[in-house]
Amino acid sequence: MITLFANQKGGVGKSTLAVLFANYLSLVQNKEVVLFDMDNQRSIYNKFQAAQVLENKPLYEVEAAEMEQFATINSIVRENENLVTILDVAGNIENDHLIPVFQGVDLIICPFAYDEFSVGATIDFSEVVRTLNEKAKIIFIPNRIKTNVKYETLESVNKVLSNFGAVTKPIPERIDFQRITTFETPPSIIQVVSPVFDLIFNEFIHKYARSWEKV
Ligand SMILES: Nc1ncnc2c1ncn2[C@@H]1O[C@H](COP(=O)(O)OP(=O)(O)OP(=O)(O)O)[C@@H](O)[C@H]1O
Ligand SMILES: [Mg+2]
Repeated sequence: MITLFANQKGGVGKSTLAVLFANYLSLVQNKEVVLFDMDNQRSIYNKFQAAQVLENKPLYEVEAAEMEQFATINSIVRENENLVTILDVAGNIENDHLIPVFQGVDLIICPFAYDEFSVGATIDFSEVVRTLNEKAKIIFIPNRIKTNVKYETLESVNKVLSNFGAVTKPIPERIDFQRITTFETPPSIIQVVSPVFDLIFNEFIHKYARSWEKV
């Protein structure tokens, strides 16, 4: 199955959560994973390559890919039903090459924050995605949530977003997220992300794999 991390809002944690989710699937759920970095900035891929010089065997492969290569990637990864493919893309939804990507994925994970701009962009983004792909599950992750802040709009925002998909528990603001790599996740961070990732895994990835088995 193919999971896309996306939101047109920049800096909401798409790349960070894509890496943490890939690590979680590999380390906690023992899944076979491949991560495609489709952002021209190649932040994940460059880090992966740099770490590969120093570290042992990676948990999974990280590939750099162009958006135009999606059709090829799609046909290759679908040959292996057990493989979970994770795509990280840049924010810009004006790019026409993103259309087939939105249309071809099974699950869209959309990190966001409760500020006005992030919420507005997230709703606009969801409308576009829903028009392009009626079937994909959309999962919204409130990210960088500060424990000492009261988010006045939380309930109303969650209600609007639930028209498009599921809203998970929040992921807190954590200084140690700056240091994550594709090679390992410290237990302290696993603990923080697991409540959110367990739900996504159990509800959407595990069930999806089971539905394949039945076919
Ligand atoms: N929960 C968190 N706590 C603290 N810092 C975080 C958290 N999530 C993400 N960050 C930090 O926020 C910054 C932006 O995250 P990231 O690069 O993952 O966002 P993005 O959505 O991929 O951005 P872009 O749109 O540029 O691709 C990074 O410095 C990252 O370390
Ligand atoms: Mg990114």
